[in-house]
Amino acid sequence: MVDFTGIERVRELVNRAGTAAFIEALAGEIEADYRRWSEFDKSPRHAVHSPVGVIELMPISDGRLYSFKYVNGHPKNTAQGLLTVTAFGVLADVDTGYPVLLSELTLTTALRTAAMSALAARWMARRNSRAMALIGNGAQSEFQSIAFHHMLGIRELRLYDVDPAATDKLERNLAALALPQLRVVRCASVTEAVRGADIVTTVTADKRNAIILTPQMIEPGMHLNAVGGDCPGKTELHGDILRRADARVVVEFEPQSRLEGEVQQMPAHFPVIEFADVLAGRAAGRDHDGEVTIFDSVGFALEDFSALRYLHELHRAERGTRATVDLVPDLDNPKDLFALLGGRPARATSTAHLRVSA
Ligand SMILES: NC(=O)c1ccc[n+]([C@@H]2O[C@H](COP(=O)([O-])OP(=O)(O)OC[C@H]3O[C@@H](n4cnc5c(N)ncnc54)[C@H](O)[C@@H]3O)[C@@H](O)[C@H]2O)c1
Repeated sequence: MVDFTGIERVRELVNRAGTAAFIEALAGEIEADYRRWSEFDKSPRHAVHSPVGVIELMPISDGRLYSFKYVNGHPKNTAQGLLTVTAFGVLADVDTGYPVLLSELTLTTALRTAAMSALAARWMARRNSRAMALIGNGAQSEFQSIAFHHMLGIRELRLYDVDPAATDKLERNLAALALPQLRVVRCASVTEAVRGADIVTTVTADKRNAIILTPQMIEPGMHLNAVGGDCPGKTELHGDILRRADARVVVEFEPQSRLEGEVQQMPAHFPVIEFADVLAGRAAGRDHDGEVTIFDSVGFALEDFSALRYLHELHRAERGTRATVDLVPDLDNPKDLFALLGGRPARATSTAHLRVSA
């Protein structure tokens, strides 16, 4: 049987820790994996594009465990009452090739993206950062808000979205969290939200080269957490922001980011720093307080590997309540696969789609 963490189970595991604590712990797992960067067999994700969206497969392995995520990005979906991003994934044992965990990754993607954003900002943003502009107030936005409040000490969040209903929802959800140290300010434009901010997070969804941030909006010392531009032909920053003499661009995995990130707008020799080099001390995340730092986030398979590994650990820590799925046959004679179709059920064949093992 293969362990299974569906939406209910992930919700339970996150709520048990508390969302902020869960994101911080996950950031620790991601950091630990980025610190052993050279152990991973890495490749850019495989993307299948359509005029309205993308479906991607994100594989990675450290030689002991293998994982992949299936994820889509369809900005038009919300108009039909569907999510822009949905995902699920598998963790497998390299030694046998057997899957060990099947998991939902929609909620988990939002958690790991926020964890990764805040982790990068810890190394890149100015130490005394207190105000963050949050442009794009959709599905990812609460997770980003919580991560930056909890992990970076952000005390003022300045919100803007072209859809006022999205900002209403974010305001409502943040108010329900009753965070006494967090001031939430609703802004009438991107310019108003960004003015005076220490950190600017862009997490908008639009399948085109959008210009959410223009060069005039950028102030010395700002840290930009550019999350929404994550596909060929889908960006958020004006190219001149990247070209600033005082700009420093950090990416997750250079070969993938050159295709999908904000740096797709730049020539192949445009300098970027991989986040693993920052962690290893081979490059600085920031040199001085006046620098404009840009985390050109696209989402890399390693972050999902860390999330799946962490979920599996938490899931297995509790005996007696573990859900599994009969995804792989458990046969008395592995050469007799045909027995599965016969009268005598193989050991793990179950009529139920989902089991809770004692
Ligand atoms: N980098 C990563 O690791 C990563 C991970 C997850 C999602 N993403 C990307 O983040 C983006 C947001 O994802 P989501 O799940 O929150 O999507 P969503 O559709 O729920 O929310 C996006 C929001 O952006 C707003 N928006 C669109 N254009 C805008 C503009 N010009 N100005 C201000 N707001 C604008 C929309 O109104 C919407 O509320 C997507 O593009 C997604 O692909 C990146």
